Amino acid sequence: MTYLLGIDVSTTGAKALLVDENGRVAAGAVSGYPLLTPRPLWSEQDPAAWWQSVCRSIRQALAEAGIEGGDVSGVGLTGQMHGLVLLDKRGRVLRPAILWNDQRTGPQCEWLTQTVGLQRLLEWTGNPALPGFTAPKLLWVREHEPEIYARVGQILLPKDYIRYKLTGLYATDMAGASGTLLFNVKARRWSDEMLKVMGVPAEWLPPCHEGTQVTGTIGEAAARATGLEAGVPVVGGGGDQAAQAVGVGAVSPGIVALTLGTSGVVFAPTGEPFIEPEGRLHSFCHAVPGRWHLMGVMLSAAGALRWYHDALSPKSSYEELLAPAADTPPGSEGLLFLPYLTGERTPYPDPMARGAFIGLTVRHTMAHLTRAVLEGVAFGLRDNLELLRAAGLEPITQVRVSGGGAKSPLWRQILADVLDCELVTVNTTEGAAYGAALLAGVGVGLWPDAETACAAAVKVTEHIRPDPQRVASYRQIYAMYHDLYTTLRPTFHTLTGFEMG
Ligand code: XUL
Repeated sequence: MTYLLGIDVSTTGAKALLVDENGRVAAGAVSGYPLLTPRPLWSEQDPAAWWQSVCRSIRQALAEAGIEGGDVSGVGLTGQMHGLVLLDKRGRVLRPAILWNDQRTGPQCEWLTQTVGLQRLLEWTGNPALPGFTAPKLLWVREHEPEIYARVGQILLPKDYIRYKLTGLYATDMAGASGTLLFNVKARRWSDEMLKVMGVPAEWLPPCHEGTQVTGTIGEAAARATGLEAGVPVVGGGGDQAAQAVGVGAVSPGIVALTLGTSGVVFAPTGEPFIEPEGRLHSFCHAVPGRWHLMGVMLSAAGALRWYHDALSPKSSYEELLAPAADTPPGSEGLLFLPYLTGERTPYPDPMARGAFIGLTVRHTMAHLTRAVLEGVAFGLRDNLELLRAAGLEPITQVRVSGGGAKSPLWRQILADVLDCELVTVNTTEGAAYGAALLAGVGVGLWPDAETACAAAVKVTEHIRPDPQRVASYRQIYAMYHDLYTTLRPTFHTLTGFEMG
């Protein structure tokens, strides 16, 4: 038996997942690390902590599976996207990595939008300048930490720092590169125009590979640190959303992946580059060669439920918290929840957007509040799905739901009713790390391509059908939800002013 290793360098921890040649999960281990928030709006992590956790997780997974490093024939990498890792010319980390959920770069995004113009940004990169993306973070370092900027020799994404530690080589994948705003998504190469406008030397950027291509092999030092064998191929892999989509089999047009993780994501594979005219949806390369995807990202989805649980009912289990909400009618008897607890990205790219309960009365109980949270997140996802529907893609034939939040049958049903479409679940529940392992399997020749790998490993397990009556109620409530952000925006912005002093 031969095994594939998927490594996910996520925002909360490093996961190592061992998958056998039949696509069965043999073992998995996660090792966490802290998120550093030294100032309001900042979100950083120490790359050394990622590497330590990756080594620990790999060793633990090998031990759990009861196999040797020599039994692993391929490694696939995935992880949090957009983060900026800066190395000097000798490969040493220059400062903590600035992460995807860092919101400090509003002014740099404005500068880019004014200097380049939205239409040219879309033409050159497929995307607008958003605070989460990598390029504005680089501009921020140039402006605020010129002494660090002067020493930059290499720019990497978080998972590609781990690739560097594993293989000694600088490399990235097309899906990950798409989220930097330095990449020409249509042509699948770095954007000369963006590099010129930003004054970024091309040699700062790593070579770009397809998700299934081999980018290097495990080096001697990495073998000693992880327990893997030197010489094992490491494939391109993909950003976490693209790898997650591979993991649930969303690799062909028509099959949409809906992920209810900390963030909420609607991901539609396309056969050609497809840029939404206003740039409201992300237009990225897929981790699958010759495929692209459109994507909407809500920043707080299951994250909103976690906040609600931790703030209001930390002692109950999620099952206890959610059970009473099942007996509450759709619409939570006139209570709405806006889930913009960490600002928002799609459809409102606004770091100052905020969460809110609207319509509270003395009649409302915890059960109403809970249901309103589940519904608010579902309405936010509907905003995203509506953008996809309006973009004129090929018909959506199936929506595959996954992620921690999708474990709740109540939330799955609310989603089907709010989105007014059938959802399915699949047998593969290990997320992006699983997708990365499948990409590794293709890279080492276990399967001829990602479609075949997914067809072999991913099976539909359940259909969740919308209920026509609830669909009709939610249609009306959604219309109210949809108008709320625009109404409340001025207040959100004023409140942020108070917060910042
Ligand atoms: C995708 C995105 C998040 C991060 C963190 O655009 O920002 O999914 O990759 O998981």
